[in-house]
Amino acid sequence: MSDQKRQQSWKTDLIEQALKARSFSYAPYSGYRVGAALLCKDGTVYTGCNVENASYGAANCAERTAVFKAVSEGRREFTAIAVTGGRDDGEMDFAYPCGICRQVLREFVDPEQFVVLVGKSPVDYKEMTLAALLPASFGPNNLGL
Ligand code: THU
Repeated sequence: MSDQKRQQSWKTDLIEQALKARSFSYAPYSGYRVGAALLCKDGTVYTGCNVENASYGAANCAERTAVFKAVSEGRREFTAIAVTGGRDDGEMDFAYPCGICRQVLREFVDPEQFVVLVGKSPVDYKEMTLAALLPASFGPNNLGL
């Protein structure tokens, strides 16, 4: 398999896992369903979906669900995240991570290296670094870590 094909296949696979996670989204208030799949450096994948609440502010985004699952199980080294989203009554969207999720990811990764895949489908996605999404970021280094 060529390097390019191998690269495409892990990205396609991660987006597929994000789409599967999206099927578990609990979004009765916004109707906007999101799924994420977070790839750890050791190859493990943690998935997440958005989980809304009758008390709206208690909602949690898909990306943070995935990060918190991973960190709470001892993972802190991440390579990439795939995010998929869209209204449950409409077409898929390019669901870019919200500002809070960008900052939560920033805590654990090198923004120049970490890859964000925002996909409508496994063959229709945009790829960028976290640094592109969160330039001039504030991170653990600013506090001496
Ligand atoms: N949402 C996410 O899950 N991730 C994001 O990065 C943006 C927004 C969710 C939160 C809420 O349940 C719904 O999308 C509408 O904001």
